[in-house]
Amino acid sequence: MGNEHVYSDIEICLKYLPAETTEQALKDHFSQAGEIEGMPSLMRNPSTGKCKGMGWINFKKPEGSTNALSMDGCRFMGRNLNITRGRCRAGAVKGTVQAIGTHSPALIEEVLARLVLPNPDGVYIDGTFGRGGHSRGILAKLSKKGSLHAFDMDDAAVAVGRQLEKDDPRFHMHKGMFASMHKVMKEEGIQADGILLDIGISSPQLDGDRGFRPEMEGALDLRFDLTSGVPAHEFLQTVSAEDLEEILVKYGGEDATVAQRIADMVVLQRQIGTIPNRTQEFAEFVRKAKGKEYQAMHPAKLTFQALRIYLNQEFEQLQKGIRAALKTLSVGGKLGIITWKHSECALVIREFHAREVCPAEYPLMTWHRDMAGGDGAGEVPQSTGWYMENVSRPSARELSENSRSRSALLHILTKKRGVLIPDLEEACYPMLKIRRGKRGEQEA
Ligand SMILES: C[S@@+](CC[C@H](N)C(=O)[O-])C[C@H]1O[C@@H](n2cnc3c(N)ncnc32)[C@H](O)[C@@H]1O
Repeated sequence: MGNEHVYSDIEICLKYLPAETTEQALKDHFSQAGEIEGMPSLMRNPSTGKCKGMGWINFKKPEGSTNALSMDGCRFMGRNLNITRGRCRAGAVKGTVQAIGTHSPALIEEVLARLVLPNPDGVYIDGTFGRGGHSRGILAKLSKKGSLHAFDMDDAAVAVGRQLEKDDPRFHMHKGMFASMHKVMKEEGIQADGILLDIGISSPQLDGDRGFRPEMEGALDLRFDLTSGVPAHEFLQTVSAEDLEEILVKYGGEDATVAQRIADMVVLQRQIGTIPNRTQEFAEFVRKAKGKEYQAMHPAKLTFQALRIYLNQEFEQLQKGIRAALKTLSVGGKLGIITWKHSECALVIREFHAREVCPAEYPLMTWHRDMAGGDGAGEVPQSTGWYMENVSRPSARELSENSRSRSALLHILTKKRGVLIPDLEEACYPMLKIRRGKRGEQEA
């Protein structure tokens, strides 16, 4: 894929923004150029939350961005701004601009090359539509015969998908959790050739006014789907100190002592006052409870992350999603999972091991064939499971264009039929007098 870029006719890119810039101040300043779509997005320093000088604005109509381009060099909060057209990589989109807030979908070239290009006539599923960065890339590579079904639980994402549905008859948007994909696809009589799960939160969710980050002002809610479950500030009214401590450690990776202090202070706060229901106020409360943060990040970042993962059941969804994908794919079909954190990676590997198709050279398989005097594959029942290919990491070019991709990994699991290692162990270990309980499919 080349290095060419597609220039957007609705997005502008701003440079030399002052550190104190806010999304609202930018919106107020540039609405004179035309109606703005959503909120502007800013590149922020993760530890201070301050603007790092760059930002992007999407206008509803091309005239808006044309008017804004004519403001190049204008004064804004004491600085002269540089204003150019927004751009995205040509491989990510075709014949259309990239959707709001999705500047560069992570590992897009690798996703397309490994998941879609082998079969452009196939049926694909994007389980985490977001703003459609990957979906648009997939559609650009699919033939007229190919089709793409997308899922998201966030109404804002679904609204973008509904528009894409009108523009492209090969595309179908479903509101719901990706773990429901098997049920939905079965009802439609569809088996998929490839499935993508880009786990976690999208840039527009993170940078917008939904309050997913401690630095951003908003309601303390943290749900992707605002129509189900309970918002974070309500959850904090009732959760026990022990449960909250466990959530902070398990889903945030917070230090155990710090987690206990934050949990105890939440319970104390309930007794002496009320739990803040706005993000920045709660973030300040966590900062005081936690004390100094030695890592380069906001002290409340891990607390926000832990509550978000818990309230959206992200780990359970990932586990159920991988199991649903196995049922939904045809044999030979591929599941691509983009993970962002070690805990997500570990869950993918655990699910893979629970249904790993035994490679021919696996020593236990060789032993079973040779020593047990039979064809191992013949005697141990065959099932469908996973074969894992090498992981892809972002290229140097992607990292230079999108620093958020730095922790992204693309795992590719292929659905195969064969003997599963756990089944082989169960058959062989009694003969070998190795005692071990069968490692089944554990809970997330
Ligand atoms: C990392 S973003 C995906 C970004 C997308 N690949 C793009 O290029 O725009 C994850 C998206 O998945 C959604 N999501 C998270 N968990 C989900 C689940 N269990 N089922 C459906 N959607 C989910 C979130 O609302 C978010 O929009």
